[in-house]
Amino acid sequence: MASEPVGLAQDLTEQRVMRAQVGDQDLAIWRSESSKLQAWSNRCPHRGMRLSHGFVRGESLACAYHGWHYNCEAACHYIPAHPELTPPETIKVQTFGVLEKHGVLWVNVEDTPKPTPLPDNCFPLRSITIHVALNTAIETSQSAPLSLGADSSFKLSDENADASILTLTDDTNHRQVLMLFQQSGDVTVTCHILMDGDFTTDELIKVSRWSESVRRLAESSTS
Ligand code: FES
Repeated sequence: MASEPVGLAQDLTEQRVMRAQVGDQDLAIWRSESSKLQAWSNRCPHRGMRLSHGFVRGESLACAYHGWHYNCEAACHYIPAHPELTPPETIKVQTFGVLEKHGVLWVNVEDTPKPTPLPDNCFPLRSITIHVALNTAIETSQSAPLSLGADSSFKLSDENADASILTLTDDTNHRQVLMLFQQSGDVTVTCHILMDGDFTTDELIKVSRWSESVRRLAESSTS
């Protein structure tokens, strides 16, 4: 399985937890106070509560149900109901490979994550969630024209071999908009939008609004 872009780094600041889905694997992605990034099975070993409902406490993730604390090695090290107890080493959460590159969080649930190569200086704009099948989200995006003015229209480039990435290129101004699609549910797709080149604030807002229009178009095509 390829590495999946599950979110943007800017949306997971220190001491926050988010939920993600890669294939059948439900995940809790979290970042410790010192910025260590973790991707875990979204299931507490105690009674199965989703760890994405938990709270980051320094370098630990605390389950929201009975408060068991798990450290950055995914081992339980504190049980509030038995504070004097040293938990057995066998109480551990299943972990997966995760890393951050180009402002994107990449997870591979089978292997070490290897992010898809992207332009060196690209930077993240935003993510949008679209409630359609992956092919509908991609096809709608392919057919939605993006223009930022008379001198700036973007054309679909086919240089990217990865079918889940669309690259829109403005040749006149040497800049690109990249769309990274991730199937995050049966009929839910998350699209991460990255920019490469110089854009004004107004242009970034226009691209953001354009992505919203893509979402509406895709969702209305299936309703
Ligand atoms: S279910 Fe997580 S601490 Fe009980």
